[in-house]
Amino acid sequence: MSNMTVSRDLFPKDFKWGVATSSFQIEGAHDRDGKGPSIWDTFCEVEGKIADASNGHVACDHYERWPEDIELISRLGVNAYRFSMSWPRVQPDGQGAWNEAGFAFYDQLISALAQRGIEMHLTLNHWDLPQALQEKGGWASREVCVHFERYAVEVARRFGHRVHSICTHNEPWVIAILGYEQGIFPPGMQSRKQAMRAVHHLLLSHGMAVKAMRGLGLTTAMGIVLNLSPIYPASDDPQDVAKSKIDDGLILRLYMDALFKGEYPQDVIDHLGDDAPPVQPGDLATIAQHNDFLGVNYYTRNFSSSGNPWDVSSTGNTVTDMGWEVYPQGLTELLCRLHHDYQPERLWVTENGSAFKDQVIDGEVNDPQRLAYLRDHITATYEAMAQGVPVEAYFAWSLMDNFEWASGYAKRFGLVHVDFATQKRTFKNSALWYQNFLLGN
Ligand code: FCB
Repeated sequence: MSNMTVSRDLFPKDFKWGVATSSFQIEGAHDRDGKGPSIWDTFCEVEGKIADASNGHVACDHYERWPEDIELISRLGVNAYRFSMSWPRVQPDGQGAWNEAGFAFYDQLISALAQRGIEMHLTLNHWDLPQALQEKGGWASREVCVHFERYAVEVARRFGHRVHSICTHNEPWVIAILGYEQGIFPPGMQSRKQAMRAVHHLLLSHGMAVKAMRGLGLTTAMGIVLNLSPIYPASDDPQDVAKSKIDDGLILRLYMDALFKGEYPQDVIDHLGDDAPPVQPGDLATIAQHNDFLGVNYYTRNFSSSGNPWDVSSTGNTVTDMGWEVYPQGLTELLCRLHHDYQPERLWVTENGSAFKDQVIDGEVNDPQRLAYLRDHITATYEAMAQGVPVEAYFAWSLMDNFEWASGYAKRFGLVHVDFATQKRTFKNSALWYQNFLLGN
């Protein structure tokens, strides 16, 4: 990593600088104004699934406190905000009547953001699937694709002209693998076959939704967000090298080849054997709709080892509170590779951030490690651009501390600290750094 001092002036004037959140992680109000339960509401009730036995009932109380939160976004000096809509808030059972009160919440939020000149990037599915659709098999069921397409079209019809972009799914790998293969996220299943069905239906419903939303004649940018990272073999051992190739196939190429080349990679299909995705004629052409943007969520790099799991501490690099190695070069490398291998029209860094143990002392949160993480990953983004990669956006994860899924409230990713007992928000020093980077001083 170079020692350059990164400044906003190095980037194009219209570069999107943002922060990101998601509905379940911040909204709370889990049963208010007609909202139906999501799979995360249900999952939080299962004993032992959430580290601190918490749930999303209140979260950051954003459903009530959104005006204050928009104030925070505005004070930071960002020009873009990435957030998601809770599907069960606007369609409680995912297939029947629309909930006008739910849409009214997003309508007022969007109006207030527009008034402040903040560009909006809306995600349709940041994991909180209506529970009623899980009862039909969730993403492992092909039928859910049609319900998702209808939901997408309804949202695009109502809000498409007011937001800058619509993303269909956030991180299909996480939904499918953590939910259906590893069982650590809802629906808590452990079956590779079901996981690959979920992968396929997530990608298929993405294609169906993009095609149908485009049919409305909108100019809104449409795309998808993937969690991606470079994968290295843990050693020169041919077994580790072979493992890293197949892991790269399972994590990156399976999604990227389908979306950008209209095919699943043959080595991965062979490796999966009977568990391979259930492709029907025409599916891959539907999946490979043109994407106006590819969103990349990057946190760390990965290592593949055929023997003992890789020991993160052996690199000597900082390790975050999630146990993830801090490796900014990986972002440069990843962006360059995606551009080289797939040429997406636009690349946006849609999430990047770090969890550390924070403390408020005399009204201040000193978080030098998060500050360094942010600065070094913005620099890494710039370095990819300097090599000709068309990156147009950087969104820090996250605006504020929130419900970090199976980790509950114990892991803090926010630029803004949240005291969950009082809901008091406090800018961390990393937020002040970002503000200074964006606004100058
Ligand atoms: C990503 C998720 C996001 C957040 C970060 C830490 O996988 O998209 O909601 O939990 O990880």
